[in-house]
Amino acid sequence: MKIAHISDLHFGAHDPVVVDALAAHLIEAGPHLVIASGDITQSATETEFAAARAFFDALPMEVFVIPGNHDLPGMDLTRFVNPFKRYKHHLTDDLDPELAAGPVHIKGINTARRILPHWNWANGAVSAKQRREIARTFEAATAPWRLLVLHHPLMSPKEFPLDITVFNSKALLQTITDQRVDIVLAGHQHHAYIETRQEVTHKTLFVSASTGTSTRIRHQPQGFNLLEFTDTTLRIDQLRYADGRFTTFEAHTHTKPVVSG
Ligand SMILES: [Fe+2]
Ligand SMILES: [Fe+2]
Repeated sequence: MKIAHISDLHFGAHDPVVVDALAAHLIEAGPHLVIASGDITQSATETEFAAARAFFDALPMEVFVIPGNHDLPGMDLTRFVNPFKRYKHHLTDDLDPELAAGPVHIKGINTARRILPHWNWANGAVSAKQRREIARTFEAATAPWRLLVLHHPLMSPKEFPLDITVFNSKALLQTITDQRVDIVLAGHQHHAYIETRQEVTHKTLFVSASTGTSTRIRHQPQGFNLLEFTDTTLRIDQLRYADGRFTTFEAHTHTKPVVSG
């Protein structure tokens, strides 16, 4: 079971050459599923969403998508009246999707908010209702791997700490531990890294992707992740863009931790 994790496509601030390289790579690699972890557009315009829709439609596999902070309109009335209207119209109605895909049970949570009790509305939040939904999802899941998808990361890369606030993240981390979530996919920072959180009985991998296609690069070029699951093993390839194509720059293999208790 192969899953491609792409993020922060930022249609509207995208590099069309990189978009074509990403589409070609995904078609060639043929993962069963593509997960897009938010910031699909740059400014949440109709044109940008239509371009994103066309990109997804050109892929032969299913796409699992959640919104990011850039998928809400800026300071116009739509942001406050119906913030996800365009996202829903062009992509999907479901902001917190769920999918059982072979050995992986996947839950997505929308962490982007129209307004936050913070000066920076690019930050994220998770609600008590969403945490209950995560719990309900994974209590009923029977797949060996449990995967949660967020736009805002809960960890920071050691080499590139960023001040990102996710409101109620402490409670969410507890839910992740309680529900023995194996992998948390995220984006937002435009920086690929893997952090591990080892609890007494469980290990969670926090896997972030760089921007897939945007010109908004920071310390890394564009990139994405390929995850290949068996019932007991996971290989993660981190790919980077250079000279017209994406290639693996690091690969990691993990085994399913033994759960006790
Ligand atoms: Fe982004
Ligand atoms: Fe973001």
